[in-house]
Amino acid sequence: MSNPIKVSPSILSADYGNLGDEALQSEKAGGVELHVDIMDGHYCHNYTFGIHAVTALKKYVSIPIVAHLEIDNPDVFIEDFVRAGSDMIVVQEDTCPHLPHTIATIRKQGVRAGVGVNPDRGYEKFKVNPEILREIDLLIVLAVYPGFGGQPFSPITIPKIEQAVKLREQHGAHYDIGVDGCVNIKTIPDIVRAGGNYLIAGSSVFNGNIIENVKTLKKLGEDYLDKTIV
Ligand code: DX5
Ligand code: ZN
Repeated sequence: MSNPIKVSPSILSADYGNLGDEALQSEKAGGVELHVDIMDGHYCHNYTFGIHAVTALKKYVSIPIVAHLEIDNPDVFIEDFVRAGSDMIVVQEDTCPHLPHTIATIRKQGVRAGVGVNPDRGYEKFKVNPEILREIDLLIVLAVYPGFGGQPFSPITIPKIEQAVKLREQHGAHYDIGVDGCVNIKTIPDIVRAGGNYLIAGSSVFNGNIIENVKTLKKLGEDYLDKTIV
């Protein structure tokens, strides 16, 4: 049983002078959650948005805001990002020395929890503590290394999606399987066939017509999901 297709626009690739409006357009087109990459210049080689950007975006959109913490030591910022208006906090598993504690900290704040896994990383932390698979709402398989939009798709992503599906089944979990990085009309068929349902898309949404782009990605995902189920 697959989870439904969800397109989550990643505003990393939006027009920074027109962020609120572009975020709103992506919501109107059917984006289910707004993906906001928080980068600190340490964990990855870029700076992006912070607490105040989340507060400001919260006033523009009514869809949930997902703060993807691509930062070192995320534990100390969880509360701040929740107070700013984040509805889900996603941490990178390699930044969390004790992942179960971090997930518990997020859930204690009353928001949903997600975990991102980089291309060169596996699911060891989940295998050691399988109970956390039932505590998370979203498992993101990163198809690129954190930092920038527009990077190429790492082919390891597809078998890793398949492994994430197996883990979900084996442990009675229900998380969405997200892919972040190079999600576009070329990669969506393989992503969805492998079992990915939560499509985080930056360049393929914000380059060109935002409304048309979101609709196209969503329809393509749904078409392939139908074909996969049959
Ligand atoms: C990468 C970010 C992604 C980024 C993806 O660090 O986590 O969310 O926006 O951008 P595209 O879709 O352009 O690869
Ligand atoms: Zn992201």
